[in-house]
Amino acid sequence: MHTIIEPFRIKMTEALPITARVERQRLLEAAQYNVFLLDAEHVTIDLLTDSGTGAMSDRQWAAMMIGDESYAGSSSWRRFEKAVRDITGFRHVFPTHQGRAAERVLAATRLRPGNVVPNNSHFDTTRANIEYVGAKAIDLLAPEARNLCSEDRFKGNLDLAGLERLIQAEGAENIPFCMITVTNNTAGGQPVSMQNIKSVKQILQRRAIPLVIDACRFAENAFFINQHEPGYSDRDLLEIAQEMFSLADAATMSAKKDGLANIGGFFACNDDYWAEDFRNLLILTEGFPTYGGLAGRDLEAVAVGLMEALEINYQRYRHATVEYVAERLLARNIPLVRPPGGHAVFIDAAAFCPHLTSSDYPGIGLVNALYLEGGVRAVELGSVMFGRPASEGVGEMPAPHELVRLAFPRRVYTQSHFDYVIEVLESVHRNRDAIRPFRIIRQPPFLRHFTAHFAIADN
Ligand code: F0G
Repeated sequence: MHTIIEPFRIKMTEALPITARVERQRLLEAAQYNVFLLDAEHVTIDLLTDSGTGAMSDRQWAAMMIGDESYAGSSSWRRFEKAVRDITGFRHVFPTHQGRAAERVLAATRLRPGNVVPNNSHFDTTRANIEYVGAKAIDLLAPEARNLCSEDRFKGNLDLAGLERLIQAEGAENIPFCMITVTNNTAGGQPVSMQNIKSVKQILQRRAIPLVIDACRFAENAFFINQHEPGYSDRDLLEIAQEMFSLADAATMSAKKDGLANIGGFFACNDDYWAEDFRNLLILTEGFPTYGGLAGRDLEAVAVGLMEALEINYQRYRHATVEYVAERLLARNIPLVRPPGGHAVFIDAAAFCPHLTSSDYPGIGLVNALYLEGGVRAVELGSVMFGRPASEGVGEMPAPHELVRLAFPRRVYTQSHFDYVIEVLESVHRNRDAIRPFRIIRQPPFLRHFTAHFAIADN
């Protein structure tokens, strides 16, 4: 059979809110045109994020019922630890309430002001946590990834020559660790090849710089390797994941993605000193090391979810869904990052709105238009999220790309939901000249996209 089907059937339903256009207009105004400030009960199809928004399986719900809520040494913790160890091979495993908690403790324990941390692309919370302790977060994206339309397969790769240059310039002693993010969310959900991870490891090993994998979407990355990297087509996803982690010294993880859970994360490593420092700070801010801010039932859900994410039929369906949407949008001449990523379709908002410049925030205009048209919530990944706000006489610096991400929650929406999204996009594209420029009228000092207020710029 050629049709790839959802490898599950639906046991419980949740009603979708259907709103009227006039209502949506009023709601956008009340939310200061920032869709993060909308109430979810007014969103018909929510593609804001794939983080914590997935549907859990019957096996996960069943596991939650045996959650052991003991403060220390619970049996749920042991099952969580075993799942993480079986996949990553790391000796020390620490649960955290989500990915950024692992990032925060890692940054606080390993970095000093002035240190430098390279990454293929830092996610916004990773960058913020590094900068918060006075260190510098440097993106080293492979040159082929800068062309949004090329069909290269591993456009999430880290720039090896750039890494060599950075180590030369900064000195290995000023780089306490290097990160690699799989898949590369901010560069379009693009995968990183095993070869690239191996090459990064070789460069780092010569200078004794540890490698930390940001593993949020490790299973999606393993599927890309299985499908497209020579030598991996007959390897199962668990083996591929194990090989990826064997090249690293530590990992941070948001289990809200490929843990198929609604909350959770972890930090894992081999080094005893790193583990000792991590454990001490974890107790201060997250909780005892056998629960790390999570309920026992959450540990259970993650332990099952991590393994389900590595099932080949699940990944086949997930990637087929993203490709289904991407193909249809491309056929309607909607400019996309290509090839499509693992968890999302990324629209090139600058190309979508040629009448707008980066200082008009075309991504914000497009996100607002999608909500107004059909109650679809997407997210801007452009100059609001990644641009540098103006400071001390220096003007605002735009981001390299103005993207809008349609992130796909896991196991939540059906094909007809996506047909609806395609129709909404087609209609917005037809009337794209009507997308308005926006200005920021209020913003916090960091991670501004979450809470900024916008206004339509009529100039
Ligand atoms: N790293 C990457 C690559 C991420 O995509 C995220 C979260 C994190 C770290 C932080 O994890 O949310 O559990 O604290 N990304 C979400 C998103 C929020 O929408 O892409 P967290």
